[in-house]
Amino acid sequence: MDAQRSLPIAMFDSGVGGLTVLHECLVSLPEEDFVYLGDDARFPYGARSAEELRANVSQVSRCLLERGAKLLVIACNSATSAGLETAREVAAAHDVEVVSVIGPEAEIAAAVTQTGHVGVLATPATVRSGAYRRALASQHRPLTITEVEAPDLAAVIQRGFPFSESVVEMVRAYCRPLQGAEVDTVVLGCTHYPLVAPMLQRTLGRDVRLVSAGHAIAATVQRTLADSGLAREGGEEGSYSFICTEDPHAFQELGTRFLQMPLGEVELVELP
Ligand code: DGL
Repeated sequence: MDAQRSLPIAMFDSGVGGLTVLHECLVSLPEEDFVYLGDDARFPYGARSAEELRANVSQVSRCLLERGAKLLVIACNSATSAGLETAREVAAAHDVEVVSVIGPEAEIAAAVTQTGHVGVLATPATVRSGAYRRALASQHRPLTITEVEAPDLAAVIQRGFPFSESVVEMVRAYCRPLQGAEVDTVVLGCTHYPLVAPMLQRTLGRDVRLVSAGHAIAATVQRTLADSGLAREGGEEGSYSFICTEDPHAFQELGTRFLQMPLGEVELVELP
């Protein structure tokens, strides 16, 4: 148990979006070690089929767990929407639990909406999977759901987007159906989107609640570790390290900007 407790928490996304989840975990669990994998070689996950996503999730999960980890966090909605069961199967073979996005956001959205009109902004893969519709439908209160696919937004962010007028226009266009449906709550159903939260909030107005998962995931990670006796004692500060599958230099530069902490050396792994 002691050896397992000292292992890092593994986390992955298709790119830098999951850093919005890592950030909350670093704040809530300062004594833990983290290893984060950005599968930038196969970005965007949001444009991939469910079958491709399951294959990616399987490879990435294996890669992380074979190095040793005490918990696996899927910090990507697209990967979760198709591959949660796959990740659980891989993790079960290593006796490791999985924490993921989608469920927590749905729970928060159902709790905070006053009108019951909830919007979901997500990648095509996530919207088409129906994962948010199912998660919101299981919240024990009637909700009217408006889902919007944003095929280009994560890519703009992953490229290190210039805060240009064309990006603002793109955000406005994605927000229009949500405004038309008069939602009072919008789930940011892609972990890249909190990085453009100010733009979204300005377009949708202050009265619309934006829901993202970082905080809830950090709380779930904390609870899961405590329940399984795998939480580290406080005291010493933990470490964090990064792996990517294509361009360590670009990942380091962009990641440092978004995490607002130094990333250090980013390791390159090649997945088949
Ligand atoms: N961050 C990923 C998510 O939460 C999306 C980015 C992508 O399309 O790869 O869905």
